[in-house]
Amino acid sequence: MAAYEYETHEYDVVVVGAGGAGLRATLGMAEQGLRTACVTKVFPTRSHTVAAQGGIAASLSNMGPDHWQWHMYDTVKGSDWLGDTDAMEYLARSAPAAVYELEHYGVPFSRTEEGKIYQRPFGGHTTEFGEGPAVQRTCAAADRTGHAILHTLYGQSLKNNAEFYIEYFAIDLIMSDDGVCTGVLCWKLDDGTMHVFRSKMVVLATGGYGRAYFSATSAHTCTGDGGGMVARAGLPLQDMEFVQFHPTGIYGSGCLITEGARGEGGYLTNSEGERFMERYAPQYKDLAPRDYVSRSMTMEIREGRGVGEHGDHIHLNLSHLPAEALAERLPGISESARIFAGVDVTKEPIPVLPTVHYNMGGIPTNYWGEVLNPSEGDPNAVVPGLMAVGEAGCASVHGANRLGSNSLIDLVVFGRAAAIRAGKVVDPESAVPEVVTASVDKAFDRFDGLRNASGSIPTADLRDEMQRTMQSDAAVFRTSETLKDGVTKMTEIAGKLGDLKVTDRSLIWNSDLMETLELTNLMPNALTTIVGAEARHESRGAHAHEDYSERDDETWRVHTIARVDGNKVELSYRPVITDPLTTEDEGGIELKRIAPKARTF
Ligand code: FUM
Repeated sequence: MAAYEYETHEYDVVVVGAGGAGLRATLGMAEQGLRTACVTKVFPTRSHTVAAQGGIAASLSNMGPDHWQWHMYDTVKGSDWLGDTDAMEYLARSAPAAVYELEHYGVPFSRTEEGKIYQRPFGGHTTEFGEGPAVQRTCAAADRTGHAILHTLYGQSLKNNAEFYIEYFAIDLIMSDDGVCTGVLCWKLDDGTMHVFRSKMVVLATGGYGRAYFSATSAHTCTGDGGGMVARAGLPLQDMEFVQFHPTGIYGSGCLITEGARGEGGYLTNSEGERFMERYAPQYKDLAPRDYVSRSMTMEIREGRGVGEHGDHIHLNLSHLPAEALAERLPGISESARIFAGVDVTKEPIPVLPTVHYNMGGIPTNYWGEVLNPSEGDPNAVVPGLMAVGEAGCASVHGANRLGSNSLIDLVVFGRAAAIRAGKVVDPESAVPEVVTASVDKAFDRFDGLRNASGSIPTADLRDEMQRTMQSDAAVFRTSETLKDGVTKMTEIAGKLGDLKVTDRSLIWNSDLMETLELTNLMPNALTTIVGAEARHESRGAHAHEDYSERDDETWRVHTIARVDGNKVELSYRPVITDPLTTEDEGGIELKRIAPKARTF
């Protein structure tokens, strides 16, 4: 058994991760007087939310008529009827209040002439239950909305006495024998000390796992750490096969060019200069949802109408927009296009390609953020002491495809919901759970094994194998052949984790070891993605299966539940929640409005 000394900390709540969801949860907990720690592997304002550009969806009606029920309908349709209806109602209904709350906390939103929060159109956001024109629902701070939100929430959390443990890497959850989460073991990166956080509630807000792929808009820190810890604790992941490709990553570097660019009037063209989205989505064109646009771009490239020397990308045109509008509304992407594509957006198109951007799947939760461990008898069984929010969680509000700008609103609505729930279930007067020695020892053993790993494969090489396999075999379009092949390869690759070679044995700023820990987190996320995709014999949202091209609600309107043991994945399924939170009589949506139908734009 590995012997490490550690320091112990006691809190009511420990939040792991300091992005938008983690900070909103931290703030909400601290505001209620719960003793709250936020543990984060990067400085809070460097969390990946800082890269969120285009905005946050809420039916404020600042730019024209809007209604929370239209927002809910768009989210249901956007999800291709795989989202949980209670969670989708909670999101759309709570969104306006959550945005005004951000405004009052100090988020510097862009303004209309009258001084209201500025809102822009985004893909899949419409009026009149998808019958009317596109709506301006996405509240923006130029194209740096995530940056504005993150800085504000960090300041507010400090003001409310939340305590931050910065550059602490969470190694594993501490679980009791009877399945209660009682804390988390962390490694302090800058001095090599070990820390056991004992708490009545752990909230995982660790973000997505975009870095399971070779090319992603996600930061290199997006390594699915929460999903990895949950999988090792014997708990499941949900709907992992649904991976969002953002239509406009910069060709080559993968950097994000916000959908807000099309919201402000930008459009895509092929090698013939044709605005091809008019053919694929006659009503909403370039403002169709992301899965739709990414597939259309891929078809254009496949059919020989891609641009560039190799005909392998698409053009995003902004040069027809007034230079002042670009400078005011899209300054960030104008700079990114210059730096990463060498393009002056006032004169030339940006070369773009669908790029991995978001994980719809994650740790299953209810709409209060409580983690679920579904069983046959109880598909909604809660894991005591454990919550997950933001991209790490799967509430499931995005189902098979997320609408742009529904991510930032998900972070704040469900971060806030988790805090409300914790206020009810966490008793500040009760004792903090004792250290579960067996669980701590197990986590140290794993850590020590990796620290001293003396196999034959450097971490970077195995990561590269994983990323290239995911990129080619779990792509925008999938076939039975690519998926089968991908499952075989990923099973082999995951099997090689036991043969890793770590060369740095130190404990201070050991990036070799940290990247190895991250790889052990990425792997169960990647493996469940490809295994879940191979098993799902239909097409829905971001899962476009060429051998099963139709959506099959009869068999497949279910959530995939994936449990990992080493390099083996066991799948089961959990019913989608089809009842909204409130009935029509209580002011809720008419059921016939959200019944499944063909998804066209
Ligand atoms: O395109 C964007 O600005 C990204 C927004 C989102 O993913 O919600």
